[in-house]
Amino acid sequence: MNKTIIALDFSTKEEVITFLKQFEEPVYVKIGMELTYGAGLDIVRTVKDMGHQIFLDLKLHDIPNTVKGGMKNLAKLGVDMVNVHAAGGIEMMKAAIAGLEEGSAGAKRPLCIAVTILTSVSKEAMNDQLGIPGDVQETAIRYALNAKEAGLDGVVCSVHEAKAVHEACGDEFLTVTPGIRLSSDSKDDQKRVATPDYAKEQGCNMIVVGRSITKSENPAETYRKIERMMH
Ligand code: C5P
Repeated sequence: MNKTIIALDFSTKEEVITFLKQFEEPVYVKIGMELTYGAGLDIVRTVKDMGHQIFLDLKLHDIPNTVKGGMKNLAKLGVDMVNVHAAGGIEMMKAAIAGLEEGSAGAKRPLCIAVTILTSVSKEAMNDQLGIPGDVQETAIRYALNAKEAGLDGVVCSVHEAKAVHEACGDEFLTVTPGIRLSSDSKDDQKRVATPDYAKEQGCNMIVVGRSITKSENPAETYRKIERMMH
């Protein structure tokens, strides 16, 4: 199983095709808002036809009925994993699963994971702007438990929270973690970064890697090196 998800943070279909042509093997990619809004949802079909697995990172967050309808249609695209914001609540997350099951029509539904607290949100912003008291980690764990109760498969969290999430929600509950850098890389705009080795040590099930692969001199080789570190 692939444990490294490559973030396709490009804006056009052409860039994606040029980038993916460098890989001989099937890889797992993340298609987020930038690419979806730039190239349209058809990009999913293009990438799937090239034989790759897809995490469609659109972070749904709306009333349960709307999320259910949205997920039903996303499931029909045949993606492998989708996500929601845990802040939408348990009822909304249950609706997401119901929509995915309906859209999958008896076939295996896509995995669904929840974003807990965005890693860009500080404790101060969470307390003062969002009105949530306590620590970020405490809230992340509460949101992870809510996601589990709703029947989701895991969460997107920071490497530093993965252990606590597994302790609270069990080893089967997936932790998917961005903010990964090789020790030789620049941190770019990420504040708290971790190496793939450290992510593995912390029990992260899958890592999301963008620039360390996309901007490297030989993306396919860098990808293979990272994937080896995770196994
Ligand atoms: O280039 P880099 O490896 O920093 O890219 C990380 C990817 O993971 C980006 O697509 C970014 O949007 C995403 N992400 C993140 N931090 C989060 C959630 C998602 O960096 N907390």
